[in-house]
Amino acid sequence: MQLDFSTLEPLERYRWLASTITPRPIAWVSSQSSTGVSNLAPFSFFTVISDDPPTLMVNVNHRADGSLKDTLLNVQANGELVLQLVAFEQAEAMNASSAVLPYGISEFEQCGIASMPSQRIAPPRVAGAAVAFECRVVQIQAYPPAAPNCHLIFAEVLLAHIDERVLNEQGRIDPHKLDLVGRLGGMAYSRSQDTFEMRRPG
Ligand SMILES: Cc1cc2nc3c(=O)[nH]c(=O)nc-3n(C[C@H](O)[C@H](O)[C@H](O)COP(=O)(O)O)c2cc1C
Repeated sequence: MQLDFSTLEPLERYRWLASTITPRPIAWVSSQSSTGVSNLAPFSFFTVISDDPPTLMVNVNHRADGSLKDTLLNVQANGELVLQLVAFEQAEAMNASSAVLPYGISEFEQCGIASMPSQRIAPPRVAGAAVAFECRVVQIQAYPPAAPNCHLIFAEVLLAHIDERVLNEQGRIDPHKLDLVGRLGGMAYSRSQDTFEMRRPG
C-alpha cells in the first residue's frame, strides 16, 4: 500500500500521520491570559527538539473555523507556559481538559483539576503532575508560513519539577513509576510501563 499525500484530504493526512507516528507523549499545557485566567489543554504534536538550550516544541492547530486556540492566544500575549507530562492516573482529567471552553473559562476550575503556583512564571501548574517544565517562549512560528494552519511554539525550559516518587534508587526516572500516557491513533492510548533494554554498540 502506498499513500500519495498530495492526493489525500486533510483529515486523511492527519489520520495516517497520527496513527503511525506513535506513541506520542502528551504535553499538558497550562498558560494564563493577560487578565489572569488560567488555561489547561493537552497537545500530542509535541517533542523535545534540543537539550542545549533545553527546548520543547508544541504544535497548536488552528480551530476548524480558523480561530486561534486559547493556549496560543495566552502564550502570544505573555510568552509563558508550563508543560506537564500526563500519567495514567491523570488520563481522564487530561482528556476532560481538551473540551472547547469559552476564552476566559479555566479548565482547572471547570474540570476540578488542582493547581499550584509556579516559581519562575505566572501560569499555575498541575498539582498532581509528576513532571512539570516551567518554560519561556523563545519563538512562535506560524506554519506553513505562506498559509498557516497551525503555530509551532518553541519553549525553553527554565525549571523542572520532578516528583521524587517517580525516581529509582539511583535518583533517575523509573518509567514504571512515571507511567506516562502516550497517544496512539484514534481514541487509543498506550502506557510507558511496557519497557525493555538494549545496549548500544561500542
Ligand atoms: C490527547 C490529545 C492530544 C491533542 N493534541 C493536540 C495537538 O497536538 N494540537 C492541537 O492543536 N490540538 C490537540 N488536541 C486538542 C486540544 O487539546 C483542544 O483543541 C483544546 O480545546 C485546546 O484548548 P485551548 O483552546 O484551551 O488551548 C489534543 C487533544 C487531546 C485529547
